[in-house]
Amino acid sequence: MRVQVGGRAQTRSRVRLTSDLSSRHVRYSPIPRRASGPHGRPRLRRRPRGHGAPPPPPPAVARGHHFLSIDDDVFRKPIDSKVAAAARRLPASPPPRPSSDPSHPSRPLNPPPLPQRAAVVRETGPSSVMKVENDYPVPKLAPGGVLVKNKYSGINFIDTYHRSGLYKRELPFIGGQEGGGFVAAVTPEAESQGVKVGDRVAYSSVFQTYAEYTAVPASKVVTVPEEVPLDVAVSCGVQGMTAHYLTHSAHAGLVKPGEWMLIHGTGSGTCQWAAQMAKLRGYKVIGTCSESKQDIARATGVDELIDYTSVDLVPKVMEITGGEGVKAVIDGIGLATWETSIESLARRGIFVSFGNASGAVPAFPPLRLINKSGFITRPKLNDYTVTREELLSRANDIYGWIDKGDLKVVVDRTFPLEQAKEGHDYLEAGRSRGKVLYEI
Ligand SMILES: NC(=O)c1ccc[n+]([C@@H]2O[C@H](COP(=O)([O-])OP(=O)(O)OC[C@H]3O[C@@H](n4cnc5c(N)ncnc54)[C@H](OP(=O)(O)O)[C@@H]3O)[C@@H](O)[C@H]2O)c1
Repeated sequence: MRVQVGGRAQTRSRVRLTSDLSSRHVRYSPIPRRASGPHGRPRLRRRPRGHGAPPPPPPAVARGHHFLSIDDDVFRKPIDSKVAAAARRLPASPPPRPSSDPSHPSRPLNPPPLPQRAAVVRETGPSSVMKVENDYPVPKLAPGGVLVKNKYSGINFIDTYHRSGLYKRELPFIGGQEGGGFVAAVTPEAESQGVKVGDRVAYSSVFQTYAEYTAVPASKVVTVPEEVPLDVAVSCGVQGMTAHYLTHSAHAGLVKPGEWMLIHGTGSGTCQWAAQMAKLRGYKVIGTCSESKQDIARATGVDELIDYTSVDLVPKVMEITGGEGVKAVIDGIGLATWETSIESLARRGIFVSFGNASGAVPAFPPLRLINKSGFITRPKLNDYTVTREELLSRANDIYGWIDKGDLKVVVDRTFPLEQAKEGHDYLEAGRSRGKVLYEI
């Protein structure tokens, strides 16, 4: 199949996701537990910085309620031999089954609330408020849901905002909103969409993932191709998808191949992938990062790299671009960079302000943009993975690039869940040099 990437026709790789969520082989081995620890790091001129293994036996899930337990015989054999025949290919957005469907009478859907290990927030505050508990109930499944036995859960800045109370949540809650592992149970509706017990999957934009089990709507589940390690797939959930929409969609086409794009934080997570994707799109890229991450940022293939902690950014950008400025700025740093981001814009350029790693961008008058008739957008991932087609299309690109070697996704640190606090500390200190995960 031929696809158009940045004006260049390329052959799509052999990795191809469809709405058929069925996976391939599943082998058993015990989950290894690793120990690791964080380090501290001072900041410059900034505000204070506030091939996975399958699961062990899950809680028994009532068979009579159409859940298949991993204890079932079927799961002890290669999954494709017993159940692949039952996997059905479905359209990208399968029609919802009406609850009144007489061929599908309603029945109890929820597994019993057996205890599990989870990192729980019972009061908001610093990282120390998040505690690992061993007796938290396994989540209930709603119609269309699947129960995923998590092997990894990704750590994202937004999790720290929920924990600190910056973004409001009802208490108590389990942290996290991306993960991956193996499907432990399916509802009939999810099964009808092709999801099977034992599938190797990743998902994002779903709460309560710092836990052994997460209830995930089948529409959010992406089957991980054999070629992609599970920790890499989980790393592509929030940050990879975000990098994709930032470089492909959020700038609304105001930057064209061959034109300049400024991307902040290219030595960390999201923007390390964004810089690579921007190059795949054919943009000329100026990256920024702190001094200690220059090796990583350079490896993304950026055309120019600026240490934004020691170099006066705007004059440097103007020097590089011949006084024109950049047609788009991708900025997840926020408070420390928003002003220089706007000043770096070219005429009718767009400021894509997607995050606040250093603090929130304050309110400012639209008149601020008049100098270059600039545009501004403040996007979020959910609005760029609205339909299953959109989700799969982005995942398809990402897994395809990984498979072809066009996209390098670096897992920087993997903390055991028991070190939930340390994982948040590491990210909030701005130390990430790639994806930061918990191993469950
Ligand atoms: N809107 C969305 O869809 C979306 C999606 C994902 C993330 N986000 C948001 O975007 C922001 C960045 O997330 P990310 O995934 O890009 O994080 P990340 O990969 O961990 O990158 C954060 C980087 O920001 C830089 N930084 C500069 N000043 C900092 C400070 N005061 N404290 C901490 N880090 C600082 C650091 O790199 P240097 O050492 O190079 O300075 C740090 O590694 C967060 O606010 C997050 O919530 C939004």
